[in-house]
Amino acid sequence: MIDFNLLGNEYGTPLYIYDGEEIEKRINIIKNIFKNFDYKIFYAMKANSNPELLKILSKNDLGADIVGPGEFIAAKKGNIEEILWNGNGKITDDKKFFIDNGLKYVVIDSFEEIEMWDNTDIVKLLRVNPNVDAKTHPHISTGLKTHKFGVPLDEMDKVKDKIDGLHLHIGSQITDVSPYMEAFSKVINITNKYKYEYLDIGGGWGINYNGTELNVEEYKIKVLPVLEQFRGKLFIEPGRFIIGPSGFLLLKVIQVKKASGKYFVVLDGGMNVLIRPVLYSAHHDIKILDSRSDEKCTCDFVGPLCETGDIIGKNRLTEIPKIGSYVVVENAGAYGYSMSSNYNGMPKPAEVLVYKGEKKLIRKREKIEDLFKDCI
Ligand SMILES: Cc1ncc(COP(=O)(O)O)c(C=O)c1O
Repeated sequence: MIDFNLLGNEYGTPLYIYDGEEIEKRINIIKNIFKNFDYKIFYAMKANSNPELLKILSKNDLGADIVGPGEFIAAKKGNIEEILWNGNGKITDDKKFFIDNGLKYVVIDSFEEIEMWDNTDIVKLLRVNPNVDAKTHPHISTGLKTHKFGVPLDEMDKVKDKIDGLHLHIGSQITDVSPYMEAFSKVINITNKYKYEYLDIGGGWGINYNGTELNVEEYKIKVLPVLEQFRGKLFIEPGRFIIGPSGFLLLKVIQVKKASGKYFVVLDGGMNVLIRPVLYSAHHDIKILDSRSDEKCTCDFVGPLCETGDIIGKNRLTEIPKIGSYVVVENAGAYGYSMSSNYNGMPKPAEVLVYKGEKKLIRKREKIEDLFKDCI
């Protein structure tokens, strides 16, 4: 059990808190599902790239799916050995740095990018777009032909001899298995036709933010038989599934304001520390640690920033928390810290790992002076 009050008092807020045992539990769920496959998990570092968390992943034999140089260096700091480079805007200087430092796999996003990888020993996967609707939020849906990612599946023949396998990632926070079945069967037809050694099926497993999540038992029953048709090495790129439910955001109540028939609970962090509610209309459960009374009222949990979209949770029927007490925002481990910003001159939060009965500060709170260190 994590003692949130204790951590808040010791490290201050806003504070991201991670549960190391939960991370391992979730890795083991994935390993158990794929135990009869020849596979490798490449954790999608965009979800959260704190090197101390990555050390737990490397201990469990995970590789990393990276997009930019910061994530590459974080993977190295986290002792991750196998790195796969994904992205639709790769830069030649990064390519040289990554190759010099042990890059193994690349996912090529376009026909135009293919020649960038001629004469290299890197394993080359081509990202294909299967034109499948992932039935998720439009901003995190990536597998329709109108999206910027990959090449049309039915046009990839022209580069078939230049690659070692295919990649697809149809979106994130997917809770319905049918888009996976449709997309994988389309792509496996091609990998088998050209006898490719590798197939990377991306990530996207939806977690339980507000009652629905990807049903892993259904995935086993319906999706695994499709994947069994592929006889090479399978790569999987989960991010959110591993780190989302393993992380919490602790915020302090700085004001409670009554207006227009409801309460605004003003917290010491908002869209600067967790942008998902305003960016994706995402829901995060909010746990109140100390309330005025048991009476329930409609509350908007808002941040201190100068934006109407500065919301952590809207129209929640809940007890009113006491000023100075803490609230816990759940399922905040993925796309929380990694999408945080300095908007309104706010320093980024600290991060703490609770693992094997110990707590450890794994990132100090940013200092105000840090905001100006590159100003000339
Ligand atoms: C190429 C790719 N792989 C993997 C992921 C991880 O997705 P998720 O965190 O939903 O598992 C993403 C997320 O955007 C992605 O773009």
